[in-house]
Amino acid sequence: AGAAALGALKVLVANPRGFCAGVDRAIQIVEVALRKFGAPVYVRHEIVHNRFVVDSLRAKGAVFVEDLDEVPDGVPVVFSAHGVPKSVPAEAARRKLFYVDATCPLVSKVHRQAEHLIGRGRHILFIGHQGHPEVIGTFGQVPEGEMTLIETVEDVAALDIDDADGGASLSFLTQTTLSVDDTAEIVEALKARFPAIQAPRGEDICYATSNRQEAVKVLAEKSDLVLVIGAPNSSNSVRLVEVAERTGTRAALVERADCFDPAMLQGVSTVGITAGASAPEVLVQELIARLAEEREIAVAPVTTAEEDVVFRLPRELRN
Ligand code: F3S
Repeated sequence: AGAAALGALKVLVANPRGFCAGVDRAIQIVEVALRKFGAPVYVRHEIVHNRFVVDSLRAKGAVFVEDLDEVPDGVPVVFSAHGVPKSVPAEAARRKLFYVDATCPLVSKVHRQAEHLIGRGRHILFIGHQGHPEVIGTFGQVPEGEMTLIETVEDVAALDIDDADGGASLSFLTQTTLSVDDTAEIVEALKARFPAIQAPRGEDICYATSNRQEAVKVLAEKSDLVLVIGAPNSSNSVRLVEVAERTGTRAALVERADCFDPAMLQGVSTVGITAGASAPEVLVQELIARLAEEREIAVAPVTTAEEDVVFRLPRELRN
C-alpha cells in the first residue's frame, strides 16, 4: 500500500438494515407510556439490545431494571421486545402492577406455538442460544423439562432421546434471530436423526433477520470490509458479522462511530455498512460521517428487499 491506495472510499449501505417492526414498536411503547403516564416508566431488561436507545429513553424518564422485584408498587412497567417467561406477567398481576408487554408479536407467535405443542403432548427441541432473554422467555411459556435446547449440530447427535420411532412425538421451534444458514444445518441434522419430527407451521426466524442476512451477504460480496452497527449482546447483529465473514470478507461489529478504528480502512477501497435490528439509523449516519473525516467518500445503497411490516401498539396505549 502507498499513497496510491488512498482514492475515494466507496461506501455501500445495505438495504434493509437497522430497526425492524418489533424494535420500532417496543421503543414507541416506552415513549407513549412516558407521555401517557409521565416518568418514571420502568422497563424490565434493555427494551432492545442497544445502549444508545436505552440511554435516550433513560434521559426521557425510563428506568431500566433486570428484575420485577426492582419495580416499586404503583408505577407502570414495560416488558422488553425479547419476551418474558409467563411467571413475569403473573407476578406483575399478583402485585397489581400496570404492565405493558412490548414482546415482539413474532416472538409471541413462537410462544403460542410452544404452548400449543406442549398442550398436545409433544416434546419440543428448541434451536437457540443459551442465556439469551428470548430463549429464557420462550422456555418460560411451558413447564420445565418439556423443551430441550439445541445450539449446534453436535447437540443433535448428543441428544439423549430415543429415536426408534423417528421422533414421532417431537417438534422443533427456533429463536427468531438465528443465522439462517446455521439453522438450516441444524434442522437437517434433526431431520436426519428424527425423520418424523414436526417442523414449525411458518418460519420462526423472522423476516427482519433473514432480510438483513440476505442483504449483508450481497453487500459483503461487493466490499473489502463490512462494518455492522450493533451491540455485542444483540444476537441478530452478531449474526450479521458472521454472515459477512463467511463470504470471505473482513467484518467487524461497531457500537458507535467513536469505537471505529480508522486503521481498519488500510487497503480498503469499498466498505459495506449495515446495522442490526436494534441499531438506530443515526448511528449509521454517524459512522458514515466519521468515514468522511478519513477519506473522500461516495455512498451508494445495496438493496435486496423492501420491507413494509408495521406492528400496532398494544390496545392500552392506542389513541
Ligand atoms: Fe421481532 Fe424479528 Fe425484530 S422477532 S423484534 S421483528 S428482529
